[in-house]
Order: sequence, then structure tokens, then C-alpha cells
Amino acid sequence: MGGFGRPAQEAREMGGRLMDEPLAFDAVERFDVSGRVAVITGGAHGLGLAMATAFVGAGAKVALLDIDADGLELAQKTLSARGTAVVRAVDVRDVKSTQAAVREVASELGGIDILINDAAIFPSGPLAETDFEELRNVLDVNVVGYVTTLNAALPYLRESGRGRIINFGSVTFFLGYPDGLGAYIATKGAIVGLTRALAREVGPAGVTANVLAPGAFPTRAEQGLYEDQEAFDAEVIERQSVKRRGSVEDIAAAAIFLASDAASFVTGQTLLVDGGWTFN
Ligand SMILES: NC(=O)c1ccc[n+]([C@@H]2O[C@H](COP(=O)([O-])OP(=O)(O)OC[C@H]3O[C@@H](n4cnc5c(N)ncnc54)[C@H](O)[C@@H]3O)[C@@H](O)[C@H]2O)c1
Repeated sequence: MGGFGRPAQEAREMGGRLMDEPLAFDAVERFDVSGRVAVITGGAHGLGLAMATAFVGAGAKVALLDIDADGLELAQKTLSARGTAVVRAVDVRDVKSTQAAVREVASELGGIDILINDAAIFPSGPLAETDFEELRNVLDVNVVGYVTTLNAALPYLRESGRGRIINFGSVTFFLGYPDGLGAYIATKGAIVGLTRALAREVGPAGVTANVLAPGAFPTRAEQGLYEDQEAFDAEVIERQSVKRRGSVEDIAAAAIFLASDAASFVTGQTLLVDGGWTFN
């Protein structure tokens, strides 16, 4: 086996042996997520759909939860041709139906090993002119919605023995940028705090919890936010160390890493996948 979860004595012996002889290490096995069940909120579009595609391609079974029933139908059609994908149209603001959907897909797919909270909304406007209804709404989707799914998924993640929680953050939290996204940025900060506390709570059960924080990626979320797309592309590339726009595959790869045995000792962290925009 790949050697995760070794008892202390065995780990010490292995460390000692390292000095004398080469260690057997199977990189493919460490990154293998085949046969695992991944529940992905926001899976109908953008980064959520890209991750679903990657997980199915890697032999995992996926369940997509999203508010967009048409988007889900299309996603399921495409994904089912390649592997196992089930979908549930839910609004993560509705605690009861969302939690029922999590339990349903768990019984349909045989448990949950990976929970990815990706669903989010992006209202814009200066904090000085806060619309309080909109503020509560973004907190409901981007923060409360994450707790809703994880409460329902936790018994299955504990049962898994290699449970993984990946909550979506954003570089915007570290940058306080762009202007006009203050409420959204606050929710992404909340996710960092929540995930760090969660990592302590769930660690003893062998469950890890991390934040995946994208930089700027060309999804629907970006469309409509900027009038001049070319100027925005140029600005992003200028601010990044890596001189290309990020692709959705960059996020999918990071998600596979965090979900795999390769990351079984990584928890409470925020992984910034931003081409070197921020170094925190
Ligand atoms: N694209 C970027 O540049 C970027 C940058 C930083 C962080 N992120 C984060 O990545 C994640 C994915 O963003 P994306 O760019 O793919 O956006 P997206 O808009 O393409 O996808 C978001 C998904 O969430 C779903 N959703 C929205 N409200 C919902 C609700 N109430 N219930 C259930 N589903 C709901 C949408 O239908 C959509 O499928 C988000 O958490 C976002 O904050 C994205």
C-alpha cells in the first residue's frame, strides 16, 4: 500500500531506512482517486464542471449539486458517457433539500469520500452602499451553503477513512481586489477561517479540510464583470508571475491532488492556484 496513515514506530523506522536504501514510492497510486465518490456543489458550470470531468476521467464517481437544472442535465449527459455521474438540482440556501440530496447521492453511490464546495455567487457593489438583502444572500450561498453540505456529508466522510473536504476560496480575499466585490471577498475570507477550524474538528477521524483558492479563471463568473475582456486578460497576465491565463484544468489538477492520498498529510491549508499573483 501507499504508506499513508502509518503508525509512529513504523514511520520512524521508514525514516531511518531512508538513509540506507531507496524507498519504494508509487506516485501513480498516491494520486489515484479511482472508485472514490466526489460530491461537487456548483458542478453544472465552470470550475465545478471541470473538476467533475477530471474526477470522472480519473475513474471516480461524481454527484453534482447545482441550482441550474438545465446545466446539470447537459453535464450529466456528457459525463455519463465517460463514467458515473448523478445530479441533483438544489439551491444550497435550502438546508433541508440540500442535505436530503447529499444523503440520497451517498446512498446511490455507496458513500462520500470527497466533498467539494464550489457553488458561489458574485454580487457587486461598494460596501458603502450595501444592500443588506443581497449581503445576507451571498453569505447564505457562499458560507452557510458550505456548512449545510458538509454537515450532511460528514458521517460519510468519517466512514470513508480518507475523507476530503475542499472548500473554494479566492485570491480576492488576500488581495482585497477587485473593487466592488467586498461582500463576496468577505465570504471567501470566512471560508478560510471555517476550514481551518474544521480541519481541527475532523482531523482525528482521518478527514482533511483545505481551501482551494483560484486566481483569475475564464468562467461565467468572470464574464460580465469586466467591460474590456482583452484589457482584463492583459492586466491578469501582468500581475501573475506565470505569463498565461489560468485554465480550468489547473484547478482540476489541484483538486485531484487535494483529494488523493498524496495530500493525506495536508490539512487546514489554503492552496492558491493563481500563477503567482499572490504569495501568502
Ligand atoms: N473563476 C474565477 O476566476 C474564480 C476566482 C476565484 C475563486 N473562484 C471560485 O471558484 C468557484 C467556482 O466559480 P466559477 O468561476 O466556476 O463560477 P460559475 O458561476 O461558473 O459556477 C458557479 C456555480 O455555482 C452554482 N450556484 C450558484 N448559486 C447556487 C445555489 N444557490 N445553489 C446551488 N448552486 C449554485 C451556479 O449555477 C454555477 O454552476 C466559486 O466558489 C468561486 O468563488 C472563481
